[in-house]
Order: sequence, then structure tokens, then C-alpha cells
Amino acid sequence: MKFNLNEFLSAVANLLDIIEIDLFGIPTNHSKRIAFISIRIAKALQLSDPEIFDIASLALLHDNGASLKVLHDNLAGTTKDKINLIESRKEHCIIGDDNLEQFPFLTNPRHIILYHHEKYDGSGFFGLKQSEIPFLAQIIALADTLDLTFDLRIAFENRSVIQTFVAEHKNSFFSPELADVFMKLAESHDFWNNLSNERIDASLKEETPHQDKDFDMTEIRTITKTFSRIIDAKSKFTQEHSLGLSKKIAKMADYYHLDVFLTQKLLIAADLHDLGKLVVSNKILDKPGSLTEEEFLQIKKHPWIARECLQHVNGFEEIAIWIGNHHEKMDGSGYPNGLCAKDIDFSSRLLACLDIYQALRELRPYRNAMDHVGAMAEVNRMVEAHLLDPKIVSDIDFVFQAT
Ligand SMILES: [Fe+2]
Ligand SMILES: [Fe+2]
Ligand SMILES: [Fe+2]
Ligand SMILES: [Fe+2]
Repeated sequence: MKFNLNEFLSAVANLLDIIEIDLFGIPTNHSKRIAFISIRIAKALQLSDPEIFDIASLALLHDNGASLKVLHDNLAGTTKDKINLIESRKEHCIIGDDNLEQFPFLTNPRHIILYHHEKYDGSGFFGLKQSEIPFLAQIIALADTLDLTFDLRIAFENRSVIQTFVAEHKNSFFSPELADVFMKLAESHDFWNNLSNERIDASLKEETPHQDKDFDMTEIRTITKTFSRIIDAKSKFTQEHSLGLSKKIAKMADYYHLDVFLTQKLLIAADLHDLGKLVVSNKILDKPGSLTEEEFLQIKKHPWIARECLQHVNGFEEIAIWIGNHHEKMDGSGYPNGLCAKDIDFSSRLLACLDIYQALRELRPYRNAMDHVGAMAEVNRMVEAHLLDPKIVSDIDFVFQAT
């Protein structure tokens, strides 16, 4: 399938940055600024286009491990305090690196995320020093350190104090080579101005090299699986939700003898179906009691947010539709569009039925996990109320009855 990784990553980068809005209360654009600075440094060092492309992806995803709910518990203080607290927990490096284990980078970079908080003098989380630290990790670490220490959204005004900081930390935080490259870049006004919230999207797009590698479905799936782990990690109640759904989709696809291409697309849809939940606050996702109307409205946005995000990714058009429909109901009472049966296709129906079945088999803040019989009783009640496709539900019953 023609799939453009730039296109996909820039679509989801917005959502990853919205996690920061949820956690920290303001649109920080942290990952995008790290990506921009890293690309500029990589270009100055004349790295190859594939390496530059990889460092852009790595920088956008460098804090992907920070979506883990447990890292955010008991955070207090200002926005900057909270970011620094999360960044100061090495778990986000370990989890983030692990999440990207299978990611099909172009140049096979190893453990860049694991070591993105190392310091040149060995005073980082893992005590690596100098050339022991992977070079791309050193670049990201420099950009990250500056964005955590200064307000780079208004970098132009702060530029002399930032330059002094880099000069002072040459040989301690940063390698002499990297510090020198940065100082050279810092001479240009354009470098600083591109970091503003107004400019960052456009500047990142302009700077990222285009790649037109043909990804096969298995490679695309490794990318979407990575995101399913990030999504599942957000709440302790959904730790295995997307993973469980994709396994069940695989079984149903097998039962229906669906072709490989359609099966892979359905698996990708399962991986990403709750992508929009990345932007729903954990205060709502983990709330033990019933939701207020306003809170439910926030939840109801998630299929629409994912559809908006994915529909412009080449090759993902149908996937975006199924995901957008995964909370629609046959009688028109679902969300976000209140579609009726005639407008809901088979793949959307299958995703919707299995999503409910999968959720019922999991623990929730307000109830225990159900066994197959209990879950089917609930699902069948929904069939009687004309909410779900009866044939698909009875097929699900047949396929999973022994589980
Ligand atoms: Fe970090
Ligand atoms: Fe960071
Ligand atoms: Fe959902
Ligand atoms: Fe779901």
C-alpha cells in the first residue's frame, strides 16, 4: 500500500502533543520543537536523508512513553514543574524505547529513546558517557534539554541566555562537536523564529525530508501497533484493550475468510480505533462514578477526532471511516453522526460489535471483567434493542464461546 510515514506521523504528532495539553494544560508543541531542532542539527552535520528522516520520527515520538498513566499520578506544581517531573522519571525512556522496538525506521537506529536523557559527562539516567551515547540520542538530548530549561516558544527573545547555557555546558551536558554546531545554527534569526507556536507546524513540514519508501502491510502494522500500545497505556483500565480487540478481529477475519489485505486494514483499524482517546482527559477516562453530560460529550468526540486525524493519510481513507463509525448504532442512536443501519458498512459493524464485546471482557472502574456468557448477555440485550448487527453478534458468540 502507498503509505507516507511523514503524512502519518505529522497527523498523529498533533494528537501526541495534545496529550501534553491534557497533562500540562497548555499546548506545548514540545515534540515538534525537538524535531525541528534535531533536523537542523542533523542537516548541519550532513547526515543522510534517511538518518534525518529517522531523527525527525524519533524526535516526534521521543516522549511517547510519557502517555503512561502511572507517570502522571500525584503531579503538582506549574506546567514546567510537571513536564520536568515526568521527564525526570527514567521509566518514560524505557517504556518509550520498548514501544518503538518494532518500528520500521529507515536506518535501524538502536535505543535512541532509551538514551535521550543521557549527558555527555555520564551524569544521565544510565551513566553512559561521550561516544557510548548513540549520536542521534545526543542530538535529541540537546534539543530536549533546551526546551525543558527555556521557553523556546519565545526563543528569539531568550537566545543570548540559551547560547550562554550551551557554551557553559559544553563538555558536561553536550559534546563539544554538538555544542559548536548548535552555536553556529544559533547565529541565524530564522532558526529561533521557526520555533514559535505559530511557525512550528510549517517549519517542521519544510525541514523534514520527503521519503517515498513503499511500506508493506506488515510494516505499516508495526507502526500502528506501536500507537495501539501508546493508546492502551493511557489508562490503567485499557492496558490491553486495542491489543485484545485486534486479536479478536484476527479471529473473526479468519472465520469469515476475509482476504489478507482487508484483514490487515481491519487490524490497523483495531489498533487505532481509540486514537482519539489520547486527547480525552484521564480525569474522565478513569472516573469511577457516572459521567456528567459534559464529560460524556468529551468522550463522544474520540471517534471523530481519530477520523479527522487519519482521513488525510493516503491509504487510510476506509480505515478512518470504520474508526469514525465504531460507536454508531443500527437504530441511529449512536455517535458521533447518529448513522442508521443502511449507512453502516460491514467492517464498521464488525469493529463496533467486537469493541463492545472486548470492553465487556475487561475490568472497568465501575464493574468487574465479564466472562463470555456474561458479555454475550449484555451484547444480546443490545441486539434486542436494535443497536447491533444480529448476525455478527451471533458469529462472535460462536467464535468465542470456548473462551
Ligand atoms: Fe524525555
Ligand atoms: Fe522531552
Ligand atoms: Fe471507542
Ligand atoms: Fe474501544
